[in-house]
Amino acid sequence: MIISVVGMGYVGLVTGACLASFGHKVFCYDRDPAKIESLKKKIVPVYEKGMKELVEANVDSGQLLFTSSPNPAFRISDVIIIAVGTPALKTGEPDLSSFFSAARQIGESLDPERFTVVVTKSTVPVGTWSKLASILGSQRDGHSHFGVVSNPEFLREGNALWDTVYPDRIVLGACCQRSVKVIRDLYRPIIEQSFGNLPGIPPRPGHLKRVELIVTTPVNAEMIKYAANVFLATKISLINEIANICERVGADVTVVSRGVGLDHRIGPEFLKAGIGWGGSCFGKDLASILHTAGKYGYFPQIIDAAVQVNTRQRQKIVLDLEDLLGDLGGRTIGILGLSFKPNTNDLRDAPSLDIISGLLEKGAVVKVYDPVAMDECKRQHPELTVTYEYSAIKAASNADALVIVTEWEEFRNLDLKQLKGVMKQAVIVDGRNIFAPRAIRKEGFIYKGIGRPDK
Ligand code: UDX
Repeated sequence: MIISVVGMGYVGLVTGACLASFGHKVFCYDRDPAKIESLKKKIVPVYEKGMKELVEANVDSGQLLFTSSPNPAFRISDVIIIAVGTPALKTGEPDLSSFFSAARQIGESLDPERFTVVVTKSTVPVGTWSKLASILGSQRDGHSHFGVVSNPEFLREGNALWDTVYPDRIVLGACCQRSVKVIRDLYRPIIEQSFGNLPGIPPRPGHLKRVELIVTTPVNAEMIKYAANVFLATKISLINEIANICERVGADVTVVSRGVGLDHRIGPEFLKAGIGWGGSCFGKDLASILHTAGKYGYFPQIIDAAVQVNTRQRQKIVLDLEDLLGDLGGRTIGILGLSFKPNTNDLRDAPSLDIISGLLEKGAVVKVYDPVAMDECKRQHPELTVTYEYSAIKAASNADALVIVTEWEEFRNLDLKQLKGVMKQAVIVDGRNIFAPRAIRKEGFIYKGIGRPDK
């Protein structure tokens, strides 16, 4: 098939590269010509495991092409995938200007003699599919030359390629059977798991024989995306609430999580207590669904509470430090980790930013270290008056306390004796519960985890 992908962010590039490796011809378009020029040179703008190898292999084989003039590609495509960003506005609503401008551009280019399926991968508010259909339809008479499909993605940063080719499910919210048939063919290698080894992606997990396909209405598909993220984010907030109770009653949330997660109705994942979620999806999608519900006159209390618990979990770190050190004015605090999770330099809605701002407001002196996200942080947040250090030990030097914000592997392997030797006071607030309390206390640290007994 001939495919066009619009928007070379995370989702678009991953989707394009994976589809190209199944033998489809994929034209990738972005309105930023500089991005297209660097992709043509096989420079991949995002840090993602395996991505460089996969893009290189498909560019070399001629299956993956990058273009800054989309019209000829749109005209000959069987499928056009919209994967542009929908960043949050201040109201909580996503900004759909890029999405609608892509839709208009597609509408103008569609060939009325050919059936084209327009697929939405961007996360858009429930109901957007009908606006898309009318934009596409308004450019020509009748709708028979195109179909619309809402096909949400569920990929995690850092596991994006894996999640794309070995997904738990594929959701197709389609306007008509004809479109379902086209997209089923497009994804057949994934549904039937019939592809061989792909460059940059580990071999298929043994248990995976076939991927479940959910074919439904567009509005159901749009809702599935929000519902999935609401469940995951709320699960984290719920375990954080349990952690906060654990702290008070002297229980250990890591043990409680294990005991709870072994119940297969609950499941072991997303039960890590800590400073809460960050990243590009959860905060944005919960704000968006709250906004949508509000438009219909409904207030979803649990979703609102999940957001509030998440905010409070970040503030809690500053309160914990005050409990341990008293007034934070003039105190030196070392921060380990800036990115919202390990193995990425992504700082979108990163808890580190709120924690650092909270500390600076209290008059603390803040030193930070992150293995990959420091350059991004300097560039995006010049307002943060912190000192960037080039190792964890340097960030800890002379500090009154050290805070673990992101669970990078290298922090788990820190030499505790050396760490204690360089700190002014051996105090650790572990926002990700990476250390064993007994072992670290034995080294002479005052240790405060999340949801774990003080002694
Ligand atoms: C998430 C969803 O997993 C994905 O399905 C969706 O499409 C986009 O949002 P991502 O943002 O890449 O993906 O990150 P993920 O690995 O899911 O982690 C999200 C946040 O939750 C991180 O800040 C992480 O630290 C936090 N988290 C996760 C916890 O605090 N505890 C947990 O148990 C799991």
